[in-house]
Amino acid sequence: MKNVNVVLGAFYGDEGKGKVIDYLSKEAKYAVRFSGGNNAGHTIEVDGKKFAFHLLPSGILNRNIKAILGNGVVIDPKVLIEEINNLQANGYDCKNLYISDKAHVILPYHIILDGLLEEIRGGKKIGTTKRGIGPAYCDKFERSGIRMEDFISPNFKEMLKTNITNKNVILKAYKQPKLKFADVYKEYKEYAKILKKYVCDTTSMLHKAIKNNENILCEGAQATLLDIDFGSYPYVTSSNPTIGGVSTGTGIGAKYIGEVYGVIKAYSSRVGEGPYVTEQINEIGDTIRELGHEYGTTTKRPRRCGWLDLVALNYAIMVNGLTGIAMNHLDTVGKLDKIKLCVAYKYKGKVTTDFRTNMDFLYNSEAVYEEFDGNFGDISNCKTFDELPENAKKYVNRIEELTGTPIKFIGTGAGRENIIVR
Ligand code: IMP
Repeated sequence: MKNVNVVLGAFYGDEGKGKVIDYLSKEAKYAVRFSGGNNAGHTIEVDGKKFAFHLLPSGILNRNIKAILGNGVVIDPKVLIEEINNLQANGYDCKNLYISDKAHVILPYHIILDGLLEEIRGGKKIGTTKRGIGPAYCDKFERSGIRMEDFISPNFKEMLKTNITNKNVILKAYKQPKLKFADVYKEYKEYAKILKKYVCDTTSMLHKAIKNNENILCEGAQATLLDIDFGSYPYVTSSNPTIGGVSTGTGIGAKYIGEVYGVIKAYSSRVGEGPYVTEQINEIGDTIRELGHEYGTTTKRPRRCGWLDLVALNYAIMVNGLTGIAMNHLDTVGKLDKIKLCVAYKYKGKVTTDFRTNMDFLYNSEAVYEEFDGNFGDISNCKTFDELPENAKKYVNRIEELTGTPIKFIGTGAGRENIIVR
């Protein structure tokens, strides 16, 4: 039995990964984030209290779990401290938090540059969250990034000075005000003091857990089509939210990984710019947005909404090796009279089921749909697949048939308990 399980977004993010993570956390001893930063966002409700996280693994609310920010994550110390403070104010001591010594730090120049680069892109902007994610990963790969182990050590001062000197050259070229080293250092060295106690070698920690046969849950952020390699480049995030990111972002090799669940919604959504074949810029899209409360947790932006796309889903199944699907919001599509399911694309007059990330292909493909009856009624109390109404079963069965992948979790309502586990 392999005891490392993974939950990934299968489409463009915001699939509601939190719900299935929450369910699987019951078995887990470790919850690990392996990529991205505070560009992610999820809201979790415990005992009537709502917590909005951008950075912390959602497993942190379970006191029996060790919550890890892996080496593949980029960390804005200010945001992390805010999240820790908020939890502590609500009775969670956060003693179960561990931060990889190899995770990179997001610094003020990353955030300034993220906004500036978007401005320069003008009409071709990516629609980033402006949290400094892309520029932080750029520095990591350019080898000028500051890792947590340096951030909490005396090395931080010199490293920061060099980086600010270099970034000021860029800021000057763009006629932006310079950053003052002394100010940034004064503020961030205090953050480093607070975070120091959480920093450790999380990779060896995880391997000890594997040896002890303890269950590890890797929590994906963002999603497959936002992957820097496999997504709709350049309209992607700057990391690998796909399966490979689990290994590079934690130090856990592929042989330890068991179940890989891809999360989808029974419809689809996207935030930011970029192609989206099944998008509904019409009354249907507006209705789905309102029924599904599709507004960003991180940026509050209204999400673009549309139908579920099996061409894209089959691609996500392929590149991640998904062993199962978790489908949220079956109740939401069930409120519509008719539901459409994209089963193929039509590109230059030819019908295809092969997904490609090429921009010309994605912008010029037209969705080929099958239509299903909606009006499921209230399904929030259904606890088994058999209890679902026929129309709902038909929709789910057809998705399984066309993907060859079991739908193991079905979201039937907003609450944590509204889930069918198969
Ligand atoms: P960045 O990750 O802030 O650089 O943004 C790059 C793209 O990824 C933009 O289109 C964002 O809207 C999108 N993005 C980043 N994080 C998330 C997420 O957690 N959910 C959905 N979209 C995201």
